This record gives sequence, C-alpha cells and structure tokens, in this order.
Amino acid sequence: MVKIIGLTGGIATGKSTVSKMFKERDIPVIDTDKIAKSLLNKGSEAFQEILTEFGETVLTPNGEINRKKLAEKLFHDEKTRQTINAIIHPKVKDIVRREITRLESYGETLIVIDVPLLFETDFHQECDVTWLVFARQKDQLERLVERDQISEDYAMKKIKAQWPMSKKKALADVVIDNSKSILETRKAFDKALERMRNQ
Ligand SMILES: Nc1ncnc2c1ncn2[C@@H]1O[C@H](COP(=O)(O)OP(=O)(O)O)[C@@H](O)[C@H]1O
Ligand SMILES: [Mg+2]
Repeated sequence: MVKIIGLTGGIATGKSTVSKMFKERDIPVIDTDKIAKSLLNKGSEAFQEILTEFGETVLTPNGEINRKKLAEKLFHDEKTRQTINAIIHPKVKDIVRREITRLESYGETLIVIDVPLLFETDFHQECDVTWLVFARQKDQLERLVERDQISEDYAMKKIKAQWPMSKKKALADVVIDNSKSILETRKAFDKALERMRNQ
C-alpha cells in the first residue's frame, strides 16, 4: 500500500527545503506550486479560462500570462482570488491524482505532495499523514524578504494573508521545526521519517 505524505507550512517556512530532503532519500515529491505555474502556460486549458475571465489585461506583450500582475491582483482582491483558485485548484488535484497513480505503478510506496494550502483546500483529506514545516514568524519574515527580494511590509502582508501557523500546527500529524539551522532540521527530518517508517 502506498502512503501519501501531505507536506505543508507557511510561506517561506521551508517546504521546498524539506522537499529536497525527501528527494535526497529517493522519495518522490509532487510539487503543486510547479503544477499550478505550468497550468498558466500559454495554450493550456487554464490559460484560456483565465483569459476569458480577465481579458488581455493580464497578458504580457508577448501574449503570456503576466504572473506577477496576476499574483498582485489575486492578493488584493478576494473575488479574483476565488475565481482563479476555482480554475486552478481542481486541475492541480487532477494532475496530482494522475501522478500518484503513475508513481504507484512504478512501485513507489511513499509519495510526498508539497501543498502550500494543504488544509485550506482540503487536500489533507487525500493524504495518509500530514507534515508541517514550522518556522518562527520572525525567521519566516526574514527568509521571505531575502528570498523574494520584497519589502518587509509586503512580506508581512503575505504572511498575514495565510492561516496562522498555530491553526495549521494543530491540524498536522508531524511538525518539523525549521527555526534553527538546516542541519538541525535535517536531524528532525530523519527522526520523523524513521518514526513514520516504523509505524
Ligand atoms: N533553517 C534555515 N535556515 C536559514 N534559511 C533557511 C532555512 N530553511 C530554509 N531557508 C531559506 O529560507 C527560504 C525559504 O525556504 P523555502 O524552502 O523556499 O520555503 P517554502 O518552500 O516553504 O516557501 C529559502 O531561501 C531557504 O533557502
Ligand atoms: Mg516552496
């Protein structure tokens, strides 16, 4: 039987960092961020739907979706966020399900899905176990500013727009503390993986 791990966290708390640790252990990771981004590619079904919904104002001069503009639009307007999510989320779920079937057919017994909005989108219901990557807000803020080269103000707004970490923490089966060094996180990761494998 295959076991599905739903990996989540807050923005910049270290999901991709922990994803990498799984990959280094030869455990496949399905990256839903990557899938969502690819759905915006010119000519895809979602691309057409977004174009129908918002018109050419969301396009760059060479006819591709202006991701930055779309992200800002989405961030500032709740209705837009819901509309875009309604287009993207079901398609991401379909692709993930197909990918799981494919990986299972190759005999994989442990599969990770990296889903930033795991609980918010009820994706956790499709997982056997949920892992949350935790970082203190001050570290999260610092890392987000540094990684995305954005202002502290904007980074804080992004953090505040998400569910509070405490709410996610209460729902997760396993919490990986990524507040300290990557080395410490790796130790916690190894321990949690070992424990899960022995269950
Ligand atoms: N323990 C850590 N100490 C210092 N920097 C870290 C640590 N973990 C992650 N980072 C850095 O913080 C940023 C956010 O991590 P990332 O894994 O991209 O988060 P997420 O995928 O959750 O958005 C990245 O630039 C990453 O290199
Ligand atoms: Mg990431």
